[in-house]
Amino acid sequence: MAKYIRGGKIITASDTFIGEVLVNGSQIAAVGSDLRGIVPAGAEEIDATGLYVMPGGIDVHTHLDLPFMGTSSSDDFETGTIAAACGGTTSIIDFAIQEKGRTVTEALNKWHEKAAGKAVTDYGFHVAITDFNDKIASELPGVVRQGVTSFKCFMAYKGSLMIDDGQLFKLLSEARKLGALISLHCENGEIIDVLTKKFLGEGKTSPLYHELAHPAIGEGEATHRSIALSRMAGHPVYVVHMSCEESLKHVRESTLKNNHKVFAETCPQYLVLDRSVYEKPGFEGAKWVMSPPIRTRQDQEALWSGIRNGFIQVVATDHCPFNFSGQKDMGKDCFAKIPNGAPGIEDRLNILHTYGVLEGKISLNQFVEVTATNPARIFGMYPKKGTIAPGSDADIVLFDPTKESMISSKNSHHRCDYSAFEGFRLKGKPAGVLIRGAWALKDGDVKIKRGFGQFLKRDAIK
Ligand code: URP
Ligand code: ZN
Ligand code: ZN
Repeated sequence: MAKYIRGGKIITASDTFIGEVLVNGSQIAAVGSDLRGIVPAGAEEIDATGLYVMPGGIDVHTHLDLPFMGTSSSDDFETGTIAAACGGTTSIIDFAIQEKGRTVTEALNKWHEKAAGKAVTDYGFHVAITDFNDKIASELPGVVRQGVTSFKCFMAYKGSLMIDDGQLFKLLSEARKLGALISLHCENGEIIDVLTKKFLGEGKTSPLYHELAHPAIGEGEATHRSIALSRMAGHPVYVVHMSCEESLKHVRESTLKNNHKVFAETCPQYLVLDRSVYEKPGFEGAKWVMSPPIRTRQDQEALWSGIRNGFIQVVATDHCPFNFSGQKDMGKDCFAKIPNGAPGIEDRLNILHTYGVLEGKISLNQFVEVTATNPARIFGMYPKKGTIAPGSDADIVLFDPTKESMISSKNSHHRCDYSAFEGFRLKGKPAGVLIRGAWALKDGDVKIKRGFGQFLKRDAIK
């Protein structure tokens, strides 16, 4: 059935105007100031007066059903994408992680099995390459042909996911030939390993030492090294979950001084939380044990300014939930055994609106740009996704900028026994969400069926 959205304020990365949107089937048929003359009989009329009409959010960094550190992330593709949709995210890109010694095709097949028939949002994959050699290189053209046009590597997690600089350099050169983008977890894995062993040897086992074992300078160093490798290979990199000024400084320098493009992503937790979370009593700090860890208020300010000035193009979530009880407590006596990651897939737009737009740190257009348009552009989905324009998929968020609420694990849709943002006050929330023209969220109720989500075959990067 067609849908006629009228009276709302349409917000794209470049424009803000009161206008109307006509949805026909799964796509946007028209956008204009008065579409009454072309609305088909029987169309559902949606009064969006007082609401923002924005492109559905795209979260390019999620870990659903991820086997990691002796357990699995607690959301699967059904629960995780329902939570995403409730927060205004209509597409995700998850990481299909190669097991060491196995092929990337096996990893991709596994992730297709995890997602198909379960996801409610559309979904794509990055392949995380943990073991690179000639055999894996020969698989990559086929992977790109399947629409998996980005690969991820870890410069941390020594002994499990980490690859070395030589492998990374060779992979960058392969990616260049294929038009694939390399995402990088930038932290100095060798130093983390040394510091972790040192602290544990001194009997320092609490979550605070996770933070101390992951210094910002080590993240900055790895970011700098990744940029150097990227310059030598003549191919850009995309730095994931950037947490600190040390890293941003290198991205800024590369862009301004060396005229070499580096894409950067940060996440809400690095924008609104500070390192005092690790000083909470007892084992509570484990809720925020993630890599990189939460940094300082000065880092928060630097990241906001990085977004405002275009050095950070994407805000994703790195949603990687583990229950506090039964999962995080695997590391009760040893911080190195606390599964790394935290929930946040539902909170991204709401936090960015409340603490970014309303506090004057970013504009409404930048809000849309970093949550939808840039992710679509950078990862080969634009203009099918990431904008409100004729011919684009009708992934639309009707965002109520006045709605007040408070984040709590009780009213979150994720499958995790805590929220990383418990007690955060919000102003602004999705009132309705359409995915390819179908209601996913309407009047606060989840409407979408399990398995509605489709695999996103993405274009190679230009
Ligand atoms: O701590 C985190 N970030 N867990 C998820 C895996 C990763 O490094 O992205
Ligand atoms: Zn990472
Ligand atoms: Zn991650």
